[in-house]
Order: sequence, then C-alpha cells, then structure tokens
Amino acid sequence: MPAAATKSLIQDTISPTAAQKYYDLWGRHYDWFSFFESRAKSRSLELLDLQPGLSLLHVGLGTGKEHEWIVTHIEPDGRAYGLDLSLMMLQVARARLDSSLCQADGGYLPFGHRRFDRLYAAYVIDLIPTSLIPVWLQGFRRVLKPGGCMVLLTLTEGVTVTSRAVVSLWKAAYRLYPLACGGCRPLQLTDLMQQAGFQFMQDEIIIQFGIPSQVILAYP
Ligand SMILES: C[S@@+](CC[C@H](N)C(=O)[O-])C[C@H]1O[C@@H](n2cnc3c(N)ncnc32)[C@H](O)[C@@H]1O
Repeated sequence: MPAAATKSLIQDTISPTAAQKYYDLWGRHYDWFSFFESRAKSRSLELLDLQPGLSLLHVGLGTGKEHEWIVTHIEPDGRAYGLDLSLMMLQVARARLDSSLCQADGGYLPFGHRRFDRLYAAYVIDLIPTSLIPVWLQGFRRVLKPGGCMVLLTLTEGVTVTSRAVVSLWKAAYRLYPLACGGCRPLQLTDLMQQAGFQFMQDEIIIQFGIPSQVILAYP
C-alpha cells in the first residue's frame, strides 16, 4: 500500500453508494451540523477570496447554504457551479437558489481542463474511501486554471486535550457505525495534496465544540 493511502486515520467502510443513500435519506437536515462547522466554513469562504467575475466549482455542495453566499459574490459576471451525488441534497439546494447545479461524483468531474478560478469542497473528502482520495485531488487540480486556487475543509486530528478526546470518541463511533458520523472520519490531507502536485499551501485547524476541522488553501 503506498504511503499516501495510509493517511486515513481509521479504516474505510463507506462506499460512494452508501454515502449517496445516506444523504438522500438525511441530507435535508444537514444544516444542523453547522454547530461545529460554522467557524471553519466562514474561514474557508474567506480564504477563497471571491471576486465578481470568477468561475468556481463547488464539490459536494450539500444543502447549498454556502453556495448561495458564493453565488452572491461572483455572479452575474462570474459563474458558480455546484455538484453533489445526492439528489435530495440537490433538491434542497435548488429550493434555496437558482444556479448551475448538477448530479455528479466528485471523483469524475464533468468539466474540461483548466476551467475554474476556484474550487471549494467542505466535509466531502472525509467520506471518500482513502484509495480514491489521490484520484479526487488529481481531478481537482486538472480543472483548476493556473493561478487559481482550491480550499478544502475536512475533519482532522485533535490538537488539544479536548479535541483529541472528542476525536477519539468520534473514531470509536465511526468504527461501530460509520453512518452515525455521516460517513465522515478525520483526515490529514496535507501530504496527499503535495503528492497530487498542489503547492504553496496554507493550513489551519479550527476547533468548535471540541471538533477539529482543517482548512487548506492550495494552488495547482
Ligand atoms: C458531510 S456533507 C457536506 C455538505 C456541504 N459540503 C457542507 O459542508 O455543508 C457531504 C456532502 O457530500 C456529498 N457527497 C458524498 N459523496 C459524494 C461524491 N462521491 N460526489 C459528490 N458529492 C458527494 C453528499 O451528498 C453531501 O451533500
């Protein structure tokens, strides 16, 4: 097994099909999780450095709450595209905003090379099987323009006594029943991103209610 594949901190048990079924069933309630995600999301959106006229791809946009904000910052001169595997999530997002949304797998981006100035994905990579993460990252790099950038947000390892304890509990729950955690487990992505060819990275860990999230800004 290559070193890159060891970066998942616990074993994979969720297939993309299982993830899709889960979010089709429970996705409409996903905004409840903002109690531990909101600060890291705010920081991610800030790092995207959005300006009118940019083109952006949002992978796994979920209920569309952040996508709505993104659209107001770059359209109508620019364009924000959103994709998600779950039809329920797309339905919820479409009720929120009239934008370019499609059903697609983040591992098979239906877009040409060097198409986007920005790519954003929050709490999506952390539910992808570890063996697929390098493929996803290479796809993300493929669709970014030179000079563009990507912001990823994932669950990660704890860095304080409290966050380490919370992550231990999270992993225990995940091992018992991964869908109790929405299929998401903590990751450490920095090395994998470098291996996929991303450069000049900045990363920050933001802890909210004891749950640590990693915000990564990277350039192709
Ligand atoms: C944990 S939720 C995060 C949603 C949103 N990004 C947010 O931060 O609020 C994960 C999202 O990824 C979507 N998803 C799961 N697997 C996917 C895949 N293979 N391709 C695209 N989207 C996927 C789910 O349907 C869900 O909307």
